[in-house]
Amino acid sequence: MAARLQGLIRSNGLAAGAAAVAAASTAKVTFLDEDDVVHPPHFPWRHTGYFSSFDHAALRRGFQVYREVCASCHSLHLIRFRELVGVTHTNEEVKQMASDVDVMDGPNEEGEMFERPGKPYDTLPSPYPNKEAGRAANGGAYPPDLSLMVKARHSGHDYVFALLTGYCEPPEGKEMMPGLHYNPYFPGGAISMPPPLSDGGVEYDDGTVATISQQARDVVQFLHWTSEPESEDRKKNACKYLTVVAFMALSAGYYKRWKWSPLKTRQISYVKGIGGAGR
Ligand code: HEC
Repeated sequence: MAARLQGLIRSNGLAAGAAAVAAASTAKVTFLDEDDVVHPPHFPWRHTGYFSSFDHAALRRGFQVYREVCASCHSLHLIRFRELVGVTHTNEEVKQMASDVDVMDGPNEEGEMFERPGKPYDTLPSPYPNKEAGRAANGGAYPPDLSLMVKARHSGHDYVFALLTGYCEPPEGKEMMPGLHYNPYFPGGAISMPPPLSDGGVEYDDGTVATISQQARDVVQFLHWTSEPESEDRKKNACKYLTVVAFMALSAGYYKRWKWSPLKTRQISYVKGIGGAGR
């Protein structure tokens, strides 16, 4: 990019250079137009409508996929166990799940850190103690936190679904460095994440057949929920408030017309007086 910019500045003069620098500041968006990335198609998600909610069976399956597959590399540090209650699991299930995890707490009265079983108010455990450990385990690429991933990428859930299902053989002539995998939806085409999903990779409790696309669909819906856990409440509240606002707007309109009607319907006319001062 920098070399290309310098080339532009040299060949087209300063004005073009300034434009290119301005373009570079929006590089995050513009690089999607390059020909080494495929824009994800739009998939018909049911939960994105104004009046639709998440499919909670899919959220439960998606959490299972996250826990059994993605959690070995990705954290979800903005989500606490208790937030899953009533969304994917019951209170008892969440308490049980949390207590299976050892959480570092402290310091105690002797000033020492200690481990205790997890509680529902703890965040979901991270696979690595720090970013460096995450990089070291993944050939230098840190697996990003997934809590806000659907919000953080262009085309959000379409992108993550396309990324998870889009692994394929690199086209003829595309050199892949060792440790990188070809994925046309990832900018640059070479991603450090090995294809995480496989047919039958998890076994769903509800008997749903765990194909790659089914798992991707479920985990993407779950990740959409983690990025907006409040979205269902927000939609419900919006329905209530907007109905009230609509009634208020109607009655305010009616009241205004009522108040103004004597003024709007009155006619003021001047009749030239007979025998006035001008005579
Ligand atoms: C073996 C470890 C591993 C597993 C398992 C794994 N990932 Fe990743 N993931 C990575 C690494 C490493 C990266 C960083 C890739 C890069 O920057 O080249 C990554 C990146 C990502 C990204 C970001 C891509 C971007 O645009 O920057 C998403 C989204 C993602 N993973 C989703 C998932 C999901 C969902 C799962 C579970 C189904 C999963 N990953 C399982 C290692 C893993």
